[in-house]
Amino acid sequence: MTQAPRPGPPLWLLAELTYRCPLHCVFCFNPVDFAQQDSELDTEDWLRVLREGRALGAVQCGLSGGEPLLRDDLEIIIAEARRLGYYTNLLTSGVGLNAQRAAALKAAGLDHVQLSFQDSTREMNDFLSHTKTFELKNRVAKIIKDQGWPMVMNVVIHRLNIDHIDRIIAMAHEMGAEYLELANTQYYSWAFVNRDHLLPTHEQLRHAEEVTDAWRARLGERMRIFFVAPDYHEGRAKKCVNGWGSMFLTVAPDGTALPCHTAKMLPGLEFPNVKAHSLSEIWFDSEGFNRYRGTGWMKEPCASCDQREQDLGGCRCQAYLLAQDAAAADPVCAKSPDHHRVVEAVQRAAAREPGGPVEHPLVFRDPA
Ligand code: FES
Repeated sequence: MTQAPRPGPPLWLLAELTYRCPLHCVFCFNPVDFAQQDSELDTEDWLRVLREGRALGAVQCGLSGGEPLLRDDLEIIIAEARRLGYYTNLLTSGVGLNAQRAAALKAAGLDHVQLSFQDSTREMNDFLSHTKTFELKNRVAKIIKDQGWPMVMNVVIHRLNIDHIDRIIAMAHEMGAEYLELANTQYYSWAFVNRDHLLPTHEQLRHAEEVTDAWRARLGERMRIFFVAPDYHEGRAKKCVNGWGSMFLTVAPDGTALPCHTAKMLPGLEFPNVKAHSLSEIWFDSEGFNRYRGTGWMKEPCASCDQREQDLGGCRCQAYLLAQDAAAADPVCAKSPDHHRVVEAVQRAAAREPGGPVEHPLVFRDPA
């Protein structure tokens, strides 16, 4: 294996402040064993992580979870991030954001809020999150606008809400969102457990893209709509996290540093903890961050593929989940010897009637 190239700085520091969350979303990207990982960094540790990240060159700081509003030191963390010169972004379900807390976060210097919705209907929103949160999210959207924050609305898209896409876009527009992220489900963690329930058909996706394009033409720059490509249906791998260890540095609640938020499940890889190592050591020198950097780790068909610099072999976590080999080509790629696993899943989705039964029941994120 050739040596991994020396990377530039991690531009994005994602602080996963907690795995605690009042919602139970069926597509949650937290680890399925999150309840066994209940230790959390304390305030001083997070402030040190922020300082080290900024010294490395990070410019964006995402604050996520779980639900980051459950941390009562969030204002302190944001104030320090602001003082250091980060652009700060809060990723929230909205639960816990009342007018008073919003004013405190604004005073601390928070730049930007991403609010998640599960659907445009109360019934589906509340069903998918297993909570009565639709009305609350509507109130929170207004609070965000009242504070003058730019709002990204994020909606994870899948078989159970994709046919509502027109209403979802209309709702985001009516609420004054500047950006709408229609995030087609990525099948890791809880979404992988529930994949047969969540995978849409080709026809559903094509229709959703047409509706999205029509809205884009109508709204222009008034609301920018991102339609995150669904890689299961494309036959092409994506450059996951913009390349392993190239831009993103995630710190999990217990301080484990990761190149992506699900990498901890990959066997045979040690990921260092910020309590024992500096972010600089972690980023430049750790085995976990270097293992899949660049192209030197690749085997066939990636090693000789003319797309290898473009997609960097796709997603390592998906390769492990589908081919049980994190160094394999991402099976969403049509050249992967394991591509048939993806094709079969998509064919099963196509064969199932709308609302038709699935062998396993839908599993809600739950510590049990
Ligand atoms: Fe881990 Fe893609 S989610 S590399």
